Amino acid sequence: MSYTTLLTSLENNILTITINRPDKLNALNKDVFTDLNNVVDEIENSAEIRSAIIIGSGSKAFVAGADIAEFSSYNKEQAMALAKRGQDIFFKIENCSKPIVACINGFALGGGLELAMSCHFRLASDNAKFGQPEVNLGLIPGYGGTQRLAQLIGKGRAIELLISANMIDAATALSYGLVNHVTTQEELLSKAIGILTTINSKAPIAVANCIKTANAIFDETKNGFDEEVKAFGNCFETQDMKEGVSAFLEKRKANFTCK
Ligand code: COA
Repeated sequence: MSYTTLLTSLENNILTITINRPDKLNALNKDVFTDLNNVVDEIENSAEIRSAIIIGSGSKAFVAGADIAEFSSYNKEQAMALAKRGQDIFFKIENCSKPIVACINGFALGGGLELAMSCHFRLASDNAKFGQPEVNLGLIPGYGGTQRLAQLIGKGRAIELLISANMIDAATALSYGLVNHVTTQEELLSKAIGILTTINSKAPIAVANCIKTANAIFDETKNGFDEEVKAFGNCFETQDMKEGVSAFLEKRKANFTCK
């Protein structure tokens, strides 16, 4: 598929998605949201794609937030529609059955941090800066930031960041558990590719079930433990479970087929 605001490349079953508005520090406008919505469909529907990386173009920013110029004249209804659409697309990323990882290669501010937090996990380069600066604009985050930040780093740290608009650096983000790994800018993509190559060698249906069940912790309509029991049982109906167990017992490498 082709996109107006994203560059994509597929190598070794990993789709690398580059948000490509470097002159606006990759700010999220309507076109980026449309493209992100469509690229998640592509990830879900393509048998060739096993996992994906989201990164920002250039060396300065992952994403510096929602496009401030675009929403500056919105009224309440338009603002609510904007937030709802952003939330829906970020839920779609969070609930994608294939791993999507954020490579934060610079500023991850506002909607940029919200996008990163909707991904399954995050890596950062050592120049990355993180923040929810919306209160500087008389705003609050609208794409799930108030919720996911508290989920990921705890309520006290989240509220401090939300109401101070302070930025934190990559080392602090690592110590907060906001990112899993910090590398140099040069090593960021190869580190993510290494991790996803390992994940891509595992049973895909089991990987999808891990994501689904871990997400259930934060879904009030679900009991995560019940979801785990169901997903555990469902794995026993897959060929990949039989293959994985047989391969272990036969002391050979498993050959998973996503069935
Ligand atoms: N929306 C729209 N445009 C943005 C943007 C955003 N969120 N963030 C950056 N840009 C644009 C700037 O307007 C500028 O465009 P211009 O060259 O046409 O004037 C360009 O990107 C470069 O940004 P600039 O501010 O000149 O870079 P800087 O290095 O001086 O500062 C930041 C970098 C990230 C600190 C600064 O751009 C910033 O504070 N951005 C807004 C962050 C924010 O509030 N995000 C939450 C939005 S809800």
